[in-house]
Amino acid sequence: MSDQPRDTIESLFQEKRIFPPPAGFAAQAQIQKAEYERLMTLAQTDYEGFWAEQARAELQWVQPFTQILNASNAPHYQWFEDGLLNVSANCIDRHLPERADQAAILFEGEPGDLRRITYAELLVEVSRFANALRSRGIKKGDRVVLYMPMVPEAVIAMQACARIGAIHSVVFGGFSGDSLRDRIIDAEAAAVVTADGGHRGGRVIELKAVCDHIIDDCPSVHTVFVLKRTGHSVRWNPARDVWWHEITAQVSADCPPLALGAEHPLFLLYTSGSTGRPKGIQHSSAGYLLGTILTMRWVFDIRPGDVFWCTADVGWITGHSYVAYGPLAAGTTLLMYEGAPMIPDPGRYWQMCERHKVSVFYTAPTAIRALKKQGDEYPARYDLSALRLLGSVGEPINPEAWMWYHTHIGHDQCPIVDTWWQTETGIHMIAPVPGVSTLKPGSCGRPLPGIMADIVDNQGHPVCAPDQGGFLVITRPWPSMLRTVWRNPQRYIDTYWKMFDNRYYISGDGARRDADGYYWVMGRVDDVLKVSGHRLGTMEIESALVAHPRVAEAAVVGRPDELTGEAICAFVVARGARPVGPDAQALTQELRQWVGEHIGPIAKPATIRYADNLPKTRSGKIMRRVLRAVAAGHPVTEDTSTLENPDIIRQLQGD
Ligand code: PRX
Repeated sequence: MSDQPRDTIESLFQEKRIFPPPAGFAAQAQIQKAEYERLMTLAQTDYEGFWAEQARAELQWVQPFTQILNASNAPHYQWFEDGLLNVSANCIDRHLPERADQAAILFEGEPGDLRRITYAELLVEVSRFANALRSRGIKKGDRVVLYMPMVPEAVIAMQACARIGAIHSVVFGGFSGDSLRDRIIDAEAAAVVTADGGHRGGRVIELKAVCDHIIDDCPSVHTVFVLKRTGHSVRWNPARDVWWHEITAQVSADCPPLALGAEHPLFLLYTSGSTGRPKGIQHSSAGYLLGTILTMRWVFDIRPGDVFWCTADVGWITGHSYVAYGPLAAGTTLLMYEGAPMIPDPGRYWQMCERHKVSVFYTAPTAIRALKKQGDEYPARYDLSALRLLGSVGEPINPEAWMWYHTHIGHDQCPIVDTWWQTETGIHMIAPVPGVSTLKPGSCGRPLPGIMADIVDNQGHPVCAPDQGGFLVITRPWPSMLRTVWRNPQRYIDTYWKMFDNRYYISGDGARRDADGYYWVMGRVDDVLKVSGHRLGTMEIESALVAHPRVAEAAVVGRPDELTGEAICAFVVARGARPVGPDAQALTQELRQWVGEHIGPIAKPATIRYADNLPKTRSGKIMRRVLRAVAAGHPVTEDTSTLENPDIIRQLQGD
């Protein structure tokens, strides 16, 4: 994190519009002003007491905790550690028999197939798959990797792991075989759960085939569970592969939930950082679940009768906290959609909102921008009157996209909760409480009760003056925070704590706070890219590029992009002569394909430029700021006299 926070969204400084909560919404909100103030005050005056009160009220414990926060091994914090509970019982069993016939999951496949799974049915499905895992020897603490389409079985498999204390690690179905292999090996997974395929963008994504390709390199895996989704033929290894429908038919539908320690790891989720390979972010059971339940109520204002739709894939943290766990723990009805927003046309999301009477809708700015671009006529065709609250996540939402969302989707009636958080934080950290907060388009509002955020300068001193940029940090541990990096506690400390002597959790984002205490997130201060809201490390993409035989050196930066937020721009030094003309074009195509195969299609560079060398300091460090300016087509304002090779900039710009 050598760079100072850079403001990537200048226009925010001009934003002056404000939106108080609509009176009708505020009157019915789960959290009203008096309760909000009580929570804020309690968290300020008795921080641990505040969290203990929440944990006692919201979670069903098999054995209550007596210890709240254990900071003796800081920054490896533990919460409620002598308590025992089961996450899956807290998401399913606790709602029975009251909600037995209520839909837990409504599902729509991309081809249009529909399913409705009640809480009673979900218990059976989860119990059967938990017993299927057990029948193949999976036990508490074993790691299970999921490589699944967005179908209910993805959630069922996650809940089944939670039921028996197995630790799941979901790998996004859009990642390549190489990415899948690295994650399986790092987690030393005993089993993989996949499907023959899934439907996405009008095509079949052949997940089992990708898995087959790499599974022999993963000696820890003894079983591959295969869900039949698309029905196309797949290769079969009878010693390792088992069909989901066959094995679940052979086991009991009863699987009592295992009582587990509050700190038992619920899951690992790999995410990109600025250096090295993706890190296995490790989350806890009780603290994590508590945060998801609270934010379902505080931020999404969940009430009986809601239909909640979070469009994120289960391969990302949003699909963990607000698909697989939070909505079920809160006892609501969750809508899941398998496919892409533009299939068969850009009205799909709005048609689904109408059909399923979605009341709370949560998506990413990149999707909002893409759908806005398609025209206002698509949402206008559908009855969106069941919607009462909208949400945004993954990157800063530009005020124009916010206004379109507010007007054309929310019909000026629905508050928008812009939620700032991360894989590591587990839950929303800075977000509006919609019955109470006045909204400012482009700002995620103020920290939630019990979340102590601040903005500090590069010495770690709080930045008190309004609108001054700095590092966004969290000053006190919170229950749903990551616990460590899987099998790499040093990396946990180095990445998140060391810079300010373990005093604060360092988010890696830059932000400013205005005179009203509202936070405006300005983007990453490190070399992490946000492409369509997905997090990618420049280093990962660079490593993939240099693994190609024709690449000698590569540097990757982001440039602003209207639709995807950031677009990937690669600067490549080829072996031999600098490619030009048709040779450069052919190599570009080959390298894009190559990166797609090594990481996944989302990591393909949008542009590749070739140079004889990269701009470097005399000590050999690549000047990324210079590359960012070149990529964005901005003039290079840096002092280039310290560069080893200042002429290279002209060559990079000349292309
Ligand atoms: O830069 C911030 C951005 O997304 C990063 C976290 O990415 P990831 O771990 O993939 O989680 C995404 C979903 C929670 C943050 O460091 N980010 C996320 N939400 C917002 C945001 N930036 C601005 N506004 C947001 N609402």
